[in-house]
Amino acid sequence: MNTLINKVVLITGASRGIGAAVARKIASEGAKVIINYAGSQVEADQTVQSIKANGGDAIALQADVSKADQVAALFDAAIAHYGRIDVLVNNAGIMITKLLKDTTDEDFTRQFDINVRGTFNTLREAATKLANGGSIINFSSTTTRVMMPTYSTYVATKGAVEQLTRVFAKEIGARGINVNAVLPGPTNTELFTKGKPQEVIDRLASLTAFNRIGEPDDTAKVVAFLASDDAKWISGQTIGVNGAMA
Ligand SMILES: NC(=O)c1ccc[n+]([C@@H]2O[C@H](COP(=O)([O-])OP(=O)(O)OC[C@H]3O[C@@H](n4cnc5c(N)ncnc54)[C@H](OP(=O)(O)O)[C@@H]3O)[C@@H](O)[C@H]2O)c1
Repeated sequence: MNTLINKVVLITGASRGIGAAVARKIASEGAKVIINYAGSQVEADQTVQSIKANGGDAIALQADVSKADQVAALFDAAIAHYGRIDVLVNNAGIMITKLLKDTTDEDFTRQFDINVRGTFNTLREAATKLANGGSIINFSSTTTRVMMPTYSTYVATKGAVEQLTRVFAKEIGARGINVNAVLPGPTNTELFTKGKPQEVIDRLASLTAFNRIGEPDDTAKVVAFLASDDAKWISGQTIGVNGAMA
């Protein structure tokens, strides 16, 4: 099904992980895709090449989402290349897990700068630069629904993303743009698996109804639906994508 045919979709943090899976899925449904990355140019180029090899259309554009001037330049470069942006997927994010008492000022600032300021920066650009009738999908996390030690500042950033989603949905709705947030559960990417013993991964998998962690494609399929016109009446929502974990 080519439900996204000719839509132009900007995905932040799409060099790898869930963002890259979203880029491939959305491109396979006919969209033109802008793959944003911060440092992983090689992976971003590989994602572009894999999309082109399947007949899709994609470019990679570098920008650190935490920097307002770089985000403005990212939107301008994407519009200069494809003529417009219809869909924004705010996927870029980092996770630092530490007990609150051990969290440094730098840990706190870095997470808020990328996860919250990054989302704020792209939403502010989208307010004037996203095409009428478009869609925005932000990224929160199922960890906001479970009280897991060491996740306090990470879930605080994602709680902020959810509230930006709810209010911005009302502010931008007059232009026919819907805004939602997805909340993936534990998903098989570097962000989740790095440094985790298999028994921790297995324990988290056992908290889902299907006794497995998510794959990036599980979330990509939901994001592709939310980016389609069929999802237009869904707006301002926070949607768990987690196999009934919470
Ligand atoms: N994996 C999970 O279990 C899980 C669960 C719930 C929610 N999430 C959320 O899902 C999103 C994607 O996570 P993931 O697991 O796919 O992570 P990942 O594999 O670590 O990938 C993160 C992506 O974000 C990009 N990024 C990081 N900092 C950036 C910045 N300042 N500017 C632009 N891009 C930046 C990275 O690009 P560079 O390498 O180029 O920096 C990379 O492409 C995040 O928002 C995360 O919080 C993940």
